[in-house]
Amino acid sequence: MAEINLQIESLGAGGDGVAIGPEGMPVFVPLALPGESVAVAITEGRGKLLRIVEPSSDRIKPVCTHFAQCGGCALQHLRAPVYESWKREQLALTLAARGLETKVQPLVAGTIGMRRRAVLSATRTKKSVMIGYFKRGSHELVDIHQCPVLSPDIVEALPALRKLVRPLLSRKNVARVSVLSTQGGLDVVIDDVEPATEASMRIKLVELSMGLALARLTVAGDMIIEKDRPFISFDGLKAISPPGGFLQASQVIQDKMIAHILKLVSAVKRPKGRALDLYSGMGTFSLPLARNFKVLAVEYDKPALQALQHAIGLSEGLKPVEILERDLAIMPLSALELRGYDVVLFDPPRSGARSQVAELAKSDIPHLIAISCSPASFARDARILIDGGYELKSLTPFDQFLYSTHVELVGEFVKK
Ligand SMILES: C[S@@+](CC[C@H](N)C(=O)[O-])C[C@H]1O[C@@H](n2cnc3c(N)ncnc32)[C@H](O)[C@@H]1O
Repeated sequence: MAEINLQIESLGAGGDGVAIGPEGMPVFVPLALPGESVAVAITEGRGKLLRIVEPSSDRIKPVCTHFAQCGGCALQHLRAPVYESWKREQLALTLAARGLETKVQPLVAGTIGMRRRAVLSATRTKKSVMIGYFKRGSHELVDIHQCPVLSPDIVEALPALRKLVRPLLSRKNVARVSVLSTQGGLDVVIDDVEPATEASMRIKLVELSMGLALARLTVAGDMIIEKDRPFISFDGLKAISPPGGFLQASQVIQDKMIAHILKLVSAVKRPKGRALDLYSGMGTFSLPLARNFKVLAVEYDKPALQALQHAIGLSEGLKPVEILERDLAIMPLSALELRGYDVVLFDPPRSGARSQVAELAKSDIPHLIAISCSPASFARDARILIDGGYELKSLTPFDQFLYSTHVELVGEFVKK
C-alpha cells in the first residue's frame, strides 16, 4: 500500500475525517480531524492513518488509553466546543434532508463517568479472559482496563467480572455481559453462555460474586443471586429494572431529560389532566409525569410493564398510572383512541414510530413530545407530523452517548 498525503476537509457522520482522494473520490480517515494534513495508506475508500503531518488546533489528548483501538468511542480527540457544535450540526443536517429547518438548541453536555449501563463482550484466551468492546468495524475484542465514560463502580469491577465470567466461557463463545450501576450495587446479566444448571456451577458463581459490589446476578435468563435490591431512580422515584431491561444509558442525562420534559409540560394547558406515554418502558417518564397528570403508559414488553406496576406501588402521592400492553407497530393507538389527552410523549426504539406517528398526525392533541436516540427516524416521523399540521416548536439534543457519534434528542410539537 502506497503512502500518500491528504488534507482532511470535514468530519463525516461516522466521526471519520473526510478527504478528497487522488481520483476525486472521498476517502474516510478514522481519527483524523478537519484541517489536518495526514499521511495515509488507502484501501477501498478508507485511509489508514499512518502519521499526522500537520495537526489541527482542535486536536486534544484522548482521555482514555484504549481510544484509537476500542470501538466504544469515536471522538475523544476533538476539543469540547467543536465536538458539541459538530453534534448539533449533524442533527441539523439530518433534519434538513427532510426539509426541516428548526433551530437546534445547544447540546446538553455529558460528563465523564456518567454512563451507568455497559454492554460488554467477554472471551477466553489461553491464560485469561478478555472483556471489553470490539474494535470499530471488527470482531476483534479490545480488553479494557479503564473506561472514563463508564460509571467508576463498573470500571472498578472489571477484574472481578473477568473472574466471574470465566467458568461460563468455552474457548469458542463470546459472552455478553451487561452491567448496570444501581443504588444496591451492580446488576450483572450474562448471556450467550450455557445455563448454570449444575449446583457446583451455581455455588462457584455465588462464591465469585462475593468479589463484586453486586446487587443481582442473572445468567442465561436465570437469576443466580440477589444480594441487594437493584433500585434505580427516575427523578427520585424508585423502580427495579428487570434484568437487562431498557434504561436510559446515563442517569445524569435521564434526569436532565426528565427535567426538560417536565418544564415543557408545565406550560401545557391541562383541561383533561391526562397524559399518554407511548413506548413507556418501565416508566422513566410516566412516573415523573404522574406527579401532575393521570397517565396511560403503553409498551409491549411485559417485564418492563411489571417493573412499572411495581414502581407505582413504591411511589406515594402520584396521580393514577394505567398500563396498557400493546405492540404499537402492529396496532398503534388510533386517532380516536388518542382523544382526551393534553399531551402525548413518545420514545420509540431506533427504528422510530412510523405507524403510531401516522395516527398522531391525524389527532387533535395540542402537545406532543418526542424522545429519540435516532435523528434519522425522528426526522422521518417529524415530517409526517408536520405534514399533518404540527409545528416542531423546539428541539434539544442531549449528549447521552459521550464521545460517540450518537445524539439523543427531545422535540416538542404543537398543533397549529
Ligand atoms: C427507547 S426505549 C424507551 C423506554 C422508556 N421511555 C425509557 O425512557 O426508559 C423504547 C421502548 O419501546 C418499546 N417498544 C419497542 N417497540 C415497540 C412496539 N412495537 N410497541 C410497543 N413498545 C415498543 C421497548 O420495549 C422500549 O421499552
